[in-house]
Parts: sequence; structure tokens; C-alpha cells
Amino acid sequence: MEKGKENHKAHCLILPYPIQGHINPMLQFAKHLSHKGLKITLVVTKFLRKTMQEFSGSSNISLEAISDGFDEGGRADAESSEAYLALFRLVGTETLSELLEMHKTDSAVDCIIYDPFLSWGLDVAKKFGLVSAAFFTQSCAVNNIYYHVYKKELKLPLLETEKFVNIPGLPVLEPSDLPSFVYVHGSYPASFEMILNQFQNLEKADWILVNTFHKLEQEVIDWMAKFLPVKAIGPTIPSMYLDKRLQDDKDYGLSVFKPITDVCMKWLNERASTSVVYVSFGSMAELGAEQMEELAHGLKTSNKYFLWVVRSSEEAKLPKNFSEETSKKGLIVSWCPQLEVLAHEAIGCFITHCGWNSTLEALSLGVPMVAMPQWTDQSTNAKFVKNVWKMGIKTRQDENGLVEQTEIARCINHVMEGDKGEEIRKNAKKWKEIAREAVDEEGSSDKNIENFVSSLMNPST
Ligand code: UDX
Repeated sequence: MEKGKENHKAHCLILPYPIQGHINPMLQFAKHLSHKGLKITLVVTKFLRKTMQEFSGSSNISLEAISDGFDEGGRADAESSEAYLALFRLVGTETLSELLEMHKTDSAVDCIIYDPFLSWGLDVAKKFGLVSAAFFTQSCAVNNIYYHVYKKELKLPLLETEKFVNIPGLPVLEPSDLPSFVYVHGSYPASFEMILNQFQNLEKADWILVNTFHKLEQEVIDWMAKFLPVKAIGPTIPSMYLDKRLQDDKDYGLSVFKPITDVCMKWLNERASTSVVYVSFGSMAELGAEQMEELAHGLKTSNKYFLWVVRSSEEAKLPKNFSEETSKKGLIVSWCPQLEVLAHEAIGCFITHCGWNSTLEALSLGVPMVAMPQWTDQSTNAKFVKNVWKMGIKTRQDENGLVEQTEIARCINHVMEGDKGEEIRKNAKKWKEIAREAVDEEGSSDKNIENFVSSLMNPST
């Protein structure tokens, strides 16, 4: 980096793991940085760039592509996750290096903000002598659990006799509150290895940024900060959603799926305040056909209005004629503009898989949750939603792991009606305020972002 140049317009390259749940928070963070004066290049895979539904950049954000080795058919063409990740590491390292070489002549890159799922991004940054920042897209609690597994301070597999797990910085957890890769030992070994590899070279990173905010995860952030320089910079949600006065703030996304925006918003505009249940399981989770049926009947039994995102690949699992039969009460779409939906006053409750983005978005927009976790980090997030932040409840499963329709209707009613849900609804409002404070000027996350930006703008100081 060119030293000693005051207010140098630093150029950051942002490298997310190429799935929606990682691209979204990193793109939103890119927008914050761009707003603060940095030049940003967002890097996706060549396959994704071809298939992405929308991207309208801004003068400070451009989009570039590297290869994961599967430019034509994407990850689906790989023999296994292991093969995909191994080739991505190899070809990704090469093509990212080529991209950096290419930029040397016009707009040289100063810093790589990399997703630690792609830990080789840090090695490339080091090779080119660039500033490196790890950007953790999942909660600090979840990263703390993985870190303990990586350090072998939490030994796997857990013993069957172990009823509780004690990890510093966290409340006492039951084994089933742990991320699925930890609790269900041996599941998705390649993904789990990639997750643990996040820490393998982390001590070389100049910055460790986490998409969370201090008051939300105070205890665990303070604990981790004793041995890793973690900085909370979230929630990465655009300020226009956190503060309705900022109507002129333009939002834009980079979506793998096509949002059915006009239909959703028109439908919501016709509904009364807090009358609608919003249902979504994010971009990856696949519910069993029986579970989809129970959910459908649960929504019907609750007799509430509902907006349900059922991705095209899941549509065949809907009960026959369900959309037609419930058309007076519900709207089913293949994808929606979730932030706009959650910010709409008609939404009264969110049935969610508790992906970290959905959880943070609901928290920050003050929407009470019915947590129905599926896999990966979602059980841990659900535990915090229910027991720590007290902003929702968690569905109970029967002995076969099924959440029955009566349970779904019970949870909806609990959260949306009557005295029992009062505390949850009050807490939802409280968290919305606290989230906004964190990103407001001089808020805890804003200060961390400011420090990061000024270290890049004034590299000599
Ligand atoms: C994945 C993991 O599953 C999740 O557990 C992890 O924390 C992040 O990576 P995903 O399952 O897609 O993500 O869930 P989530 O983290 O909630 O991210 C989904 C994103 O898609 C959110 O930003 C949400 O706003 C957006 N979304 C979802 C839409 O824009 N429209 C929709 O219809 C549904």
C-alpha cells in the first residue's frame, strides 16, 4: 500500500463465499464502506455472475468474477462438496491473484475483506502484501463454538451422557443447541472442515470483523476479544430500513433468486398492521414433504394472513391445491424482498429457520419470531432468540422430529396474540432500537467501521 498519503481513496476487494446468506451481509457491508468513501470491488464466481438476478452497482462498487472451477454449471457439477472446495481453493487462488495483478495497473487494491469460509483469501492478501480483514457472516456465539472445537477445547463426538455443554462466553447449552455440524458428529464433513479451517491462519489477519452488534452478544464478544481482535460491525442492514426518515437512501441487491417485489408489497399494503405471518426458510434449507404439509395446515388453522416464500425447487411439496384454497388468506411466492417485507407494518410475526441474516434482520426490524431451525448454525441462533433475547419462541418437535400443525398454530397465536406474547412483542421493539443505536453515528458498530475505514484511508497513521 502506498504509505503516507492522507485520505487516500482506498480500494477494498470483497470476497464472499458464493451463497446468498454470505453475499447479502458482505454486499451490505460493502455499501456501508462505499458510503464512507472507499472504492469497492465485490468478487463472485463466474457462474454466479452469469446467473445473478440483479445488481445495480454504484459509482464506488463494481462487480468482478473469479473462477471456482465450475464456470458453466456451478457447484452442482462438482462430484462432491470436498471436490468443489478443493478445486475452488486452487483455481480461486489463481484467478484471484490474476485479478489483483490486473488491477495493479489501474486501480490497485489495498485490502481484501474475505469470508473465512474461503481462508485462502487471506493467503492471497498476504502474498500481495495487502491489508486483510476476515468478515464472519455468522454470530459471534456460533464462531466461539467452532473456535472451541478447532482448539479441541470442545471434544467431539459429544458423550451421550453429556446433557449440558459449558463454553466460556456462552450460556449453558444443551447439545441440540449446538450447530448441527457439531451436534450431529460426522455430518457434512467437507463443510465442517472448511468451517474449522476458518481459524487455521486467522492470527495473520489484520482485522476480524463480525456481523453482529455489541449489546446483542456482549458477553461472547468481550470473551473472544481477549484472544482474537474481534470487532462487531453489524447489523449490516441498510440504514433506510432502520430509520424510515432516510427515504432517499437507495438499496440494491445481488440475488440468486428473482424477488416478486410488486406483488408482495401490493398485497402487504392491503393488510392491517401486524396482521400477517411471514414465513421463509432462507436460500438453502429443504423441508421434508410431510413437514411442508404440517406447516401449510398450521398456517391455515391459525386463520391469520400469511406470506410464504416457497422456492421453486420446494414447490412440489406443497399440498395439492393449497394455494388456490387459501388464496383469500395467503400469498405464496418463490422469493421476496425480505428486508422490505420485514420492515412493512403489516408483518406481525416471522416463522423462520433462524439463518443468521434472517435472525438479525428480524431483530433489527422489530419482528417477533417463531423459530423453526433446520441445520448448521440455526439451532444456536434459535436458542438465543428464545432464551437470551426473548424475542420469539421455538417450535417443539414430536418424537420423529416433526413440527405438527397444531404446534405451528399454537406458536403463531402465542407470538401474535394475548398476554403470553406481550413480553416478546415488547422485546422486539426494544431490540430494534438497540440495533439502530449500534449503527447510528458514534454507535458501537459505527465506531468500529470508522476505525477500519480511517486505517485504510490514512495508512501511515
Ligand atoms: C445460510 C445458512 O443457512 C445460515 O444458517 C447462515 O447463517 C448463513 O448462510 P440462508 O439459509 O440463506 O443462509 O439464511 P439467511 O442467513 O437467513 O439468509 C437468507 C438471506 O436471503 C437473508 O438476507 C434474507 O433477507 C434473504 N431473503 C430470503 C430474501 O431476500 N428473500 C427471501 O424470499 C428469502
